[in-house]
Amino acid sequence: MNSIDPIALVAEAALAPSVHNVQPARWRFGGSTVDLWEDLARRLPAGDPERRDAELSLGAAVEGMALALSARDLALEETGEVLAERMGDLIARRRFRIVPGARDPLQPHVRARQSHRGGFEPVTGRDREAALTLAGEDCTVVVDPQRIGSIAQQVDRSGHRFFRDPAFRAELRSWMRLRRDDPRWSRDGLNAEAMAMTRVEALGAGLVLGPLFRPLDAVGLAAPLTAEAAVIRGSAGILLFHRAADEPRFDSGRAFYRAWLRLEAAGLRGAVMAALADDREGAARVAELVPAGRTLVSALRIGRAPAGSGYRRARIKPRELLV
Ligand SMILES: Cc1cc2nc3c(=O)[nH]c(=O)nc-3n(C[C@H](O)[C@H](O)[C@H](O)COP(=O)(O)O)c2cc1C
Repeated sequence: MNSIDPIALVAEAALAPSVHNVQPARWRFGGSTVDLWEDLARRLPAGDPERRDAELSLGAAVEGMALALSARDLALEETGEVLAERMGDLIARRRFRIVPGARDPLQPHVRARQSHRGGFEPVTGRDREAALTLAGEDCTVVVDPQRIGSIAQQVDRSGHRFFRDPAFRAELRSWMRLRRDDPRWSRDGLNAEAMAMTRVEALGAGLVLGPLFRPLDAVGLAAPLTAEAAVIRGSAGILLFHRAADEPRFDSGRAFYRAWLRLEAAGLRGAVMAALADDREGAARVAELVPAGRTLVSALRIGRAPAGSGYRRARIKPRELLV
């Protein structure tokens, strides 16, 4: 156990996806244990009142820690201990034991995985085949262009319902980093580059989600300006990630990160379309594609990213993630 370097481990665990890139997980290392803490200041009362996304994000972070340990021939074992210590905004959540393990075959894909929100390469038959290889126990993959088109429309309809809520918009804007000189640009939240926006588009997004939303919505212009349908239609497939209906979201989050890494291993990239799973009408629209007894946890549009479309991900400095 001498060889473990907490800074390197938390840096790798922090590469996990999290809602709005809030990065809620904090860590405390003991002799052969590691405790997961949560920063309560990173919760999203407007966008995630039931804390579904917070739990998914914490689960993904724990999977990130397990993957990081696996590169060191170690593994993370649940102790079943639920913690409750509190320090300011930080609250201890769960204790894990660090035990001997073996390299996880998905671990080599951790560094490359990232959200791809721009357009995809024109879809080829090979891309659809690659997308279909991801279908499995917890993933349904839709590649039929007509079906993708109808889901795309639904994503926008569902998304617009959330955008209409001023509290949702204000919260989302507070996590958007629209200018490069924002001191949080490389730290957390969604910067313009990650959102695949030019400088002008970022400026426009700030206005559309801010003071201009109401007047634009009144004349039916807010919906087209926040629409994602065109990009979604250009995807090779839509991945519907589903889990047992009674599974705690924390556990679903661990599996979700693994599904996303399988995407990377298949040479594809994707972007989450949370509105589909979070909106009742959205989930109902794809319900027939989700097996009985399963819940739609998340959905991603997937495809082949153009060469050179990657970007530097914003992350909190690892030192600050240690409790
Ligand atoms: C629970 C959850 C919900 C998410 N919802 C969305 C979403 O609706 N739209 C989106 O573009 N990305 C969404 N994401 C992706 C995050 O914004 C992304 O993981 C985060 O910004 C970190 O960036 P990375 O994936 O490039 O590492 C979601 C991620 C999680 C874990």
